[in-house]
Amino acid sequence: MKEAFSSISGLRERLAPLRLAGKTIGFVPTMGALHAGHRRLLETARAETDTVVASIFVNPTQFDQKDDLDYYPRALAEDMALCRGAGVDFVFTPTAAEMYPRAQLTWVEAPALEEHLCGLGRPGHFRGVATVVAKLLNIVQPTYAYFGEKDAQQLAIIRRMVVDLNLPVSIVPVPTVREPDGLALSSRNKRLTPEERLLATALSRSLFAARDLAAQGETSVDRIVSAVKPMLSAIPQIRVEYFSVVDQETLQPVREIVSQVLFAGAIWLGNIRLIDNVTFAPQIG
Ligand code: PAF
Repeated sequence: MKEAFSSISGLRERLAPLRLAGKTIGFVPTMGALHAGHRRLLETARAETDTVVASIFVNPTQFDQKDDLDYYPRALAEDMALCRGAGVDFVFTPTAAEMYPRAQLTWVEAPALEEHLCGLGRPGHFRGVATVVAKLLNIVQPTYAYFGEKDAQQLAIIRRMVVDLNLPVSIVPVPTVREPDGLALSSRNKRLTPEERLLATALSRSLFAARDLAAQGETSVDRIVSAVKPMLSAIPQIRVEYFSVVDQETLQPVREIVSQVLFAGAIWLGNIRLIDNVTFAPQIG
């Protein structure tokens, strides 16, 4: 890693001549507590662009619960080491005062995409995400920005934001990285007890089972959900927030699977919330 910047002006000054020299810039925004899923994002950016920038910023405006913000894992020294190992050139680590020097009066919202899935249980979350991502994209002005498919709703909102606001960046989706037993990697996994960690695999198993039923030709979402939801609801330690089948782009609920869909779920184990999703595209003809 060449340098870390905590000021917007410092990072901009460093990147401007590279951009003028025609170098492509790959950007990976993160909230730190980096794991192999982030490493995949960084390595993809490294392979595809000349200059790789990562940001580490625990964005307060996307936390609907103060507890979640307070307990969000922070591990800057380890994060820097992971960035170095993944070949990142510049790390941007602004403070909240640098990102939000005044009360934020301008927000990016996409209500039609927010009122589904995670947005229902986390009011204001995606407004905070879209706004900070818009700010970060304006600060870094990357050629490509990399986002994990695990956060499918976030990805859908950012893709649409970039189109609707004509932002000059290409969004690159990167597949979810999983543990060998199927659990999607997440910074929150570290907070699971050993028992919860074992039970957590029920989420990916239920999503895979739903996708398998669709692959076998079942098109009725009601039948698929009734068949697989007990894989979660039968476990007393698990509270299901949602288990939904939606259009991947519009996030509108789907009744019959006739085009590409997203199977998505959110569960609680104790006070830890886990999300995951898989996509499925029926063979037409
Ligand atoms: O996915 C995340 O880690 C965050 O939502 C993001 C995109 C870095 C915005 O704070």
